[in-house]
Amino acid sequence: MLPTSILYGEISGTIPEVVRSLRGRIVVVFDKNLDSQSQEVVTLLDQLGVECLNYALPAGEQAKELAELSRLWDFLGEQNVNRNDTLLALGGGTVSDVVGFAAATWMRGIRYINIPTTLLAMVDASIGGKTAINSPFGKNLIGSFHSPQSVLIDTTLLKTLSASEVANGLAEVAKCGFIHDPFILKLLETTPRDFEQLIQRSITVKQHYVMSDPHEEKPGVREILNYGHTLGHAIEKVKLYTMSHGQAIAIGMVFAAQLSHRLGFINEELVMRHVNVLQDIGLGIVIQGVQFDEVLPFMLRDKKNFGGKSRFILLKDLAQAEVVENIEIEILKETFDKVLA
Ligand SMILES: NC(=O)c1ccc[n+]([C@@H]2O[C@H](COP(=O)([O-])OP(=O)(O)OC[C@H]3O[C@@H](n4cnc5c(N)ncnc54)[C@H](O)[C@@H]3O)[C@@H](O)[C@H]2O)c1
Repeated sequence: MLPTSILYGEISGTIPEVVRSLRGRIVVVFDKNLDSQSQEVVTLLDQLGVECLNYALPAGEQAKELAELSRLWDFLGEQNVNRNDTLLALGGGTVSDVVGFAAATWMRGIRYINIPTTLLAMVDASIGGKTAINSPFGKNLIGSFHSPQSVLIDTTLLKTLSASEVANGLAEVAKCGFIHDPFILKLLETTPRDFEQLIQRSITVKQHYVMSDPHEEKPGVREILNYGHTLGHAIEKVKLYTMSHGQAIAIGMVFAAQLSHRLGFINEELVMRHVNVLQDIGLGIVIQGVQFDEVLPFMLRDKKNFGGKSRFILLKDLAQAEVVENIEIEILKETFDKVLA
């Protein structure tokens, strides 16, 4: 996997830097809610003398349906897009996932660039080379590893993002703080929040794990990034994806912290730090209307739980995350009750 270059700053400065090394055309694939931002990108490319095409995807998870990818493939075919050309994803994680997969599959792989426009996409989805669409059998089941050539991080793009989408991204930022970089927690605890630093440090954490295990093949390496996700994913499934990912993993992280405390690894103070940081972000830390028996099968079937055994990412201390296996169901139930409203 080739290393991705990550450029920080306004796109008016970073786009010229990136296109200098490119040949061919650029296909700007954007979330249809980001029409004005896509116009800005097209204008910049025009000024640089780069021939470009643009293509709008529906907003949200609909962009990750096979029918949408198929429409995009047809567009690439009609326009004779070839290996000299580059796709440019402008949008949140849904757009980077589908555009990355289109780039991975078109002509057995062409270049792509990510310009993430949500906080979650900046710190998570656009980094690490995982691309995917959804299947009727589950989210992100069809995909590949295909790294973008560059990721352009322009925090001014976040100005129009809703408070709930900011909170969604900050849950992943907090996760990076708990598993690896406690300075992130300090930044989260300080107002006004320094988003530039929060984003840069979170990306550094994600890259650290990605570079150590690019294709998620080594148990307990890239897997650490799933802190809070075992219960989080189970809640999302039981709630049929009506709860935001950030909210679900916030509850999952409090659960993981409670479990780490129950097993004697961390003190109560660190559990309370989870509660306080996540509440400050605007996320709930307890769950309503979900029973332990409903989430348990999903936790045991989670991709980290090889062979149906329980397998959790827990904290042995702040910034010391490890895999812990085979925790008794009774202990899981007792801990789950602590995150139940
Ligand atoms: N590949 C990976 O490693 C990885 C990691 C995490 C998440 N993901 C995927 O990312 C997706 C979630 O990404 P997301 O949370 O960015 O969701 P999203 O792409 O659906 O964007 C959320 C909403 O914000 C809107 N939006 C985007 N940018 C905006 C802006 N600047 N201003 C105003 N509105 C804006 C979108 O139109 C959409 O309605 C999921 O499909 C998930 O599976 C992938």
